[in-house]
Amino acid sequence: MALNVDLSSQAIFITGAGRGLGRSMSLKLASCGAAIAVVDLDANACGGVADEIRALGGTAMALPADVADRTSLLAAAAKFAASRGRIDAVVNNAMLLKYEPIEQVTEETLTRMTAIGINGSMWGAQALLAHYDRSRGGAILNMASPVAERGFPNTSAYSLVKGAIVTLTKVLAAELGPKGIRVNAIAPGSVPTPGALGLNDKTEYERRTRTIPLRRLGHEEDNAEACAFLLSPEASFINGEILHVDGGIAAAG
Ligand SMILES: NC(=O)c1ccc[n+]([C@@H]2O[C@H](COP(=O)([O-])OP(=O)(O)OC[C@H]3O[C@@H](n4cnc5c(N)ncnc54)[C@H](O)[C@@H]3O)[C@@H](O)[C@H]2O)c1
Repeated sequence: MALNVDLSSQAIFITGAGRGLGRSMSLKLASCGAAIAVVDLDANACGGVADEIRALGGTAMALPADVADRTSLLAAAAKFAASRGRIDAVVNNAMLLKYEPIEQVTEETLTRMTAIGINGSMWGAQALLAHYDRSRGGAILNMASPVAERGFPNTSAYSLVKGAIVTLTKVLAAELGPKGIRVNAIAPGSVPTPGALGLNDKTEYERRTRTIPLRRLGHEEDNAEACAFLLSPEASFINGEILHVDGGIAAAG
């Protein structure tokens, strides 16, 4: 049964929301009553998700932006805050999913991946700080991964970003906690989203289905439910947590 939390007073800004986990988190949070800023590099995709939310009776604003571009992201946040009066939570979800042997990683790829994943999460935190209501506090949810803790071959650039996101989550939990801002992360495991399907073929997903402790792949909804919980009032004392929603991948090592 789906988690039923009340997010009706919240304005939530989600990056990389045009497809995959970002789209499913947007739909879930909207179904709990939150007003959603659907932010994505792909303008058509974020317009499509905002339309889907509105068709279901929810509230959404499509905001095309590049999270790696601080000016672009902060402008999108200012537009959303102007329409809702504030921003209660930011979900730093956008990422370029790319695996390759270290010899093949170019300067261009590494720069782009770190700019999206690391810089983008920094700018997302700044977006929340610029527009949260000081009397209510706020929340930041980052997207980590089990790869941050385990050595998965051929994922150096991606894993380096996710490791940095785990560190950033802990630093900001300590730094922003006194302001009433909670900072957590989800580490999702093996969800065949459009981005992930570009990394892993059918054989690899079949292998994972046999080896993941819970013997199945992740569903987008597993992650969306965890996201709704972490942004809900029920999670008001959870801060600095890296919540694994991975069927036991990280635990099994
Ligand atoms: N799918 C998994 O199994 C899995 C596992 C662990 C972590 N994650 C993390 O979850 C998040 C979502 O992954 P996904 O699987 O849904 O990926 P996806 O590739 O399907 O979706 C990513 C979205 O981010 C957008 N995006 C990319 N660069 C952007 C930028 N510069 N600015 C704005 N938007 C941008 C893309 O347009 C796309 O809509 C990522 O942070 C990923 O690292 C996913």
